[in-house]
Formats: sequence, structure tokens, C-alpha cells
Amino acid sequence: MRTIANLTSEFQSIFITTETPRTFFAPGRINLIGEHTDYNGGHVFPASISYGTYALGQKRDDQKFRFYSMNFPETGVIEADLSNLTFNESDNWANYPKGMLLYIKEAGHEITQGADILYYGNIPNGAGLSSSASIELVTGVLLDGLFDLNMERIPMVQLGQKVENQYIGVNSGIMDQFAIGIGKKDHAILLDCETLEYQYAPINMKDHVIMIINTNKQRTLAGSKYNERRAQCEAALKDLQRELSITSLGELTTDTFEKNKHLITNEINQKRAKHAVYENARTLEALEKLQRGDLQGFGKLMIESHQSLRDDYEVTGLELDTIVQAAWKQDGVLGARMTGAGFGGCAIALVRNEKVEEFKENINAIYHEVVGYNATFYTAAIGDGAKEISKED
Ligand code: GLA
Repeated sequence: MRTIANLTSEFQSIFITTETPRTFFAPGRINLIGEHTDYNGGHVFPASISYGTYALGQKRDDQKFRFYSMNFPETGVIEADLSNLTFNESDNWANYPKGMLLYIKEAGHEITQGADILYYGNIPNGAGLSSSASIELVTGVLLDGLFDLNMERIPMVQLGQKVENQYIGVNSGIMDQFAIGIGKKDHAILLDCETLEYQYAPINMKDHVIMIINTNKQRTLAGSKYNERRAQCEAALKDLQRELSITSLGELTTDTFEKNKHLITNEINQKRAKHAVYENARTLEALEKLQRGDLQGFGKLMIESHQSLRDDYEVTGLELDTIVQAAWKQDGVLGARMTGAGFGGCAIALVRNEKVEEFKENINAIYHEVVGYNATFYTAAIGDGAKEISKED
């Protein structure tokens, strides 16, 4: 674990300065339930976690931005001038902060000086815990703080999504940036992705913990398959719109869907839409269960969510299915499901405190037997959203 003092001396040696930079943090996220519903105008139920990205920054007198990541030391210090912030393949990971900087400026905020920024993240990359949205948002709060921009949080979240969609070219929804920007310690966020209305729900898992299980599977095809699922849902919506006046699948109840699903001519698209509609209903039900302290009921919805993602949305795969299905059979597990986009990445499970060690051992033995390598286990503490932390330590 790095301390702020560690990171500060790293900053001072990389950028050759004796001054103390300001420190900002943005978490990663898990999603409790409501998967692949955000871009379908439905609800999601994510929470920000205590793993995340630190950014230390200091203004410069010229117009240069210099970016350095302790996670990618091989790329060295990457420079960009305020007058040219276009996407550049060779800038690698620094395109995320560059994109954020560009869109914040384009939104009318005045940034006339450069800055030196050092990043350090402890979210496993490519694990589906939103390391990229975390870099976007930590850059957002850093620029906001260093340049006194007084930005409102939801527009900042939306600029993060715009970076992903337009600058990087991944057609993702609003969930990740929202969870990371709006997160609150010990709370999950029920978000209506159509209206962006949201409410916090206290997470009280009683004598259970939320385990995060990383499949350690690299998600190479995730981008294209993700965009394909989006397109299939859009095609299904178009078919339904021949008779229904709706603007998103998220507006449909399961009843209305059942009565009208014959309008969706392609069988695969019909399954995709079915997932989106039923998953949205499950997400609303999950909030109620959690509010009533019905963890058993909540766990059951997690199981149904995974089954739907496996059978109808088809985004799970051998690695996630092996972990999740093994978890369902363990003593002391209330529920388990994949979290995030799928195709690899992480699963989550609600595990009884005293069963955690046994859970890890059993799941890993089964997983190793099937895929030939280990899974990694983390316990999820639900932390705050993106913010400055230099003043707290
Ligand atoms: C990724 C995307 C999100 C969301 C999830 C699936 O994390 O970035 O917008 O669509 O997949 O729920």
C-alpha cells in the first residue's frame, strides 16, 4: 500500500521539484445489480469501492501538461500542450486525462496554464472495476481543484462518459462515471439512467461481506462484443417502436414486454431485450429487498441476474460462470454474479464473514482445475466518490 507521503516523494523526484502537490482520489466501482441496463435507459445499482486512482498535481507557469503513471513507468512522462489536445494513439493511457482536459475546456471552463500530474492506481487493470472511468474522474476533480473551476459533479460525470464514447471510442453507458463521481461511503446508488435521478441506499450487509473475485482473464474482445450488444438492443427497440411509443427498453414492464415481444423479429435480439427489461425490474426489486434488510432475497436476485446474463445476454463465459456457479453451491453464500461488462473481469459474492477463508479456498481450487490459473479475491469496502484528499491526512 502506498502512502500519500510515498506518492509525494515520487512526484517530487519525477518532476524535479521540492514543492508539495495536491492529492486527489477517485475510486473504482462494483455494480450490485442492473447490468447492461444503463445504455438501455434502465436502472443500475453500483457502489464506489476503496480501491481507486490517486492523482497528485501542481500547476505550471507555461501551457504544458506533463503526465506520469506509476502503473506504466515504461511510457515515461507524456507531454501535451494546451493548444493541441487531440487524441494521439502513441500517448497511450494519457489519452484519458487529455480527453478530460479537452472536454472540460470545451465546456467553457478556463484553463490557461499547464500542470504536472502523477497517477497511481491500485485497481487491477482490465478487471472490469472501471479503472478508466476512475482516471477520467480523478483528472476531473484535480483540474477542478487546481484551477478553481467550481464544476458541478453531474456535468463532470457526463464529460467522463463523453471521453469514453467520443475520444476513446468505447460506446459505454453512464454507470461507471456516475458511481465514481457520486459515490458515498457505505452506500450504493440506485440510478435511473434515463433521467439521472438517483438515491443512496445504505449498504448494511450484517454478518456478510461483499467479495470481489477477479477471473484474471484479459478482456481483449470486450469492446467489440459490448458494442454489438448495444446494437442488438437498439434493433429490438426499433421493432417494438412500430407499435409502442417508447424511447428506451427501460420504460417497459415485464408484462408489456411479454405482450409485445413478438414484434422483435430476430430471436437473438429478443433475448437481449428480455434481459434488459427483466434486469431493470430486478434492480428495482433489489433496492426494496436491501431497504427491508432482506439479504436472502437480494442474493436470489443476484443469482437470477447472472443466469439472465449467461443465457439471454450471453456475456459471461467459462471463467465467470465457473466462479459464480461454484459460489452458489458454497455454504454461507447468499448470492453471486458477474459485475461490469462481462466477458471476463470480476464477479461479486455475498459471503458470510466466518466462511470467507473457506470460500476463497474452495472457489480457487475449482477455478484452477477448470482454467489452469488462479482467481484473485478482494473484500469490497464501499468508499466515497472522487474528491481531494490532501487536506484529510
Ligand atoms: C461497462 C460499461 C457500463 C455498463 C456496464 C454493463 O462497465 O462501461 O456503462 O454498460 O459495462 O452494465
